[in-house]
Amino acid sequence: MHTEVVVLAAGKGTRMYSDLPKVLHALAGKPMLTHVLEAALTVMPQKVHLVTGFQSDLIKQRYSPGEFSEKLNWVEQTEQLGTGHAVMQAAPHIQDNALVLVLYGDVPLIKPGSLSGLLNKAADSGIAVLTLVTDTPHGLGRIVRDNKNKIVAIVEEKDATEEQRRITEINTGIMAFNAGLLKSWLQQLNTNNAQGEYYLTDTVSIAHDAGIEINSLQTSDADEVQGVNDRLQLSELERSYQLNKARQLAKSGVTIADVNRLDVRGELQAGRDVILDINIVFEGKNRIGNRVTVGPNVVLINCEIGDDCEILANSHLESVVVEQRCTIGPFARLRPGTVLMPGAKIGNFVETKKAIVGPGSKINHLSYVGDAELGASVNIGAGTITCNYDGVNKFKTTIKDGVFVGSNTALVAPVTVGVNATIGAGSVITHEVPDQDLAVARGKQRNISGWKRPVKIKAD
Ligand code: UD1
Ligand code: CA
Repeated sequence: MHTEVVVLAAGKGTRMYSDLPKVLHALAGKPMLTHVLEAALTVMPQKVHLVTGFQSDLIKQRYSPGEFSEKLNWVEQTEQLGTGHAVMQAAPHIQDNALVLVLYGDVPLIKPGSLSGLLNKAADSGIAVLTLVTDTPHGLGRIVRDNKNKIVAIVEEKDATEEQRRITEINTGIMAFNAGLLKSWLQQLNTNNAQGEYYLTDTVSIAHDAGIEINSLQTSDADEVQGVNDRLQLSELERSYQLNKARQLAKSGVTIADVNRLDVRGELQAGRDVILDINIVFEGKNRIGNRVTVGPNVVLINCEIGDDCEILANSHLESVVVEQRCTIGPFARLRPGTVLMPGAKIGNFVETKKAIVGPGSKINHLSYVGDAELGASVNIGAGTITCNYDGVNKFKTTIKDGVFVGSNTALVAPVTVGVNATIGAGSVITHEVPDQDLAVARGKQRNISGWKRPVKIKAD
């Protein structure tokens, strides 16, 4: 039996107070809907029917084309008349012999294991519900069981009796069905309820009345079924996700100064004996090698860091490749296209962009090096600037092996400095410096002897 997934994402998300559709709000660096679609793909569905309504064009823009577009079938629900109505819109696109999994676009942390478990249960009987026992069932549908503990109905809180409201087992909203049966039950839904909506949950009592057993799977992980209705819930779910992630990393051998102060928005691969200080943000895909130490307040975005590197406090690195034994920071900014070869050193208040820094080369203080290629063992003095931009075009600076650049030098690109050349401090280098030469390009010092400083003129 093949599987098809229906993702409900037509709701307005009123309580987000946002111009962005709720499901596009990010958790751990990517839209909630992306988390859900990734989870959906783990059950190998033939199709994922995405039901959108409110701001559906923005959601379409985000996902087509894209990694999911091959599987996605866009279903429009122009009026949000309830979860049952939303599934009705998708139903004509679903084959009768399928197993159908219903997910919510605003329940981002659902786990693959629960989905496959639920589908297995639905394959047995035709319908299965994912439930949770909680002390805070407020606002949620309650699972009503008979004296043999069989599920007979789901009642929404607004329709529930006093007694039913005391039930602590709730409907997570995630359900699985035999498609043929689901379609026949959908036809029997009505809006005779407190909210005047077509409730998907009414399929449960309809199935029960038809003598079908309702299977259930109970999760003990409240986060995986936590829906996001407002930004407080989003923030709390984010913290919970991050805490889990930090704990996993710590358990897998990463030293973490404080599991409450680490943010991984994407994928992090870390080697052995990595030490992470507080308030580090990882974004996108980061890979760090063995024995790497990262100081406090560092941001790493899509970086590759080799073995035995040290990144000191308050550094910001994006799309850079750092080979082994490099030292970076504190307060360094490495922009995209920077490559540090083994043993290179970047110090404080240094900015690099599209810069290849050769083995053992140093840019220790207060410099901008962009569109540049540095050989091995180059020393760049404090305050050196590559003038790579003439206001219209960008040009390259090439600095060969063993060059020593004195402090406060401006290298006006395009320019090449030859092997082992030396540049005197304060120079403005506008053309090539041959190998071994000393280049000095600054006003000559003039001493005026007997010079007297002006004296203060006395007021009357
Ligand atoms: C629903 C369940 C409730 C369950 C709760 C879990 C029903 C009737 N109730 O509550 O038992 O405890 O989820 O969170 O199913 N949506 C649409 N179109 C619509 C209505 C909703 O796409 O017409 C989408 C929403 O965008 C959201 C999801 O369906 O992603 C759930 O809708 P929401 O209104 O949050 O659920 P409730 O009805 O409160
Ligand atoms: Ca909800």
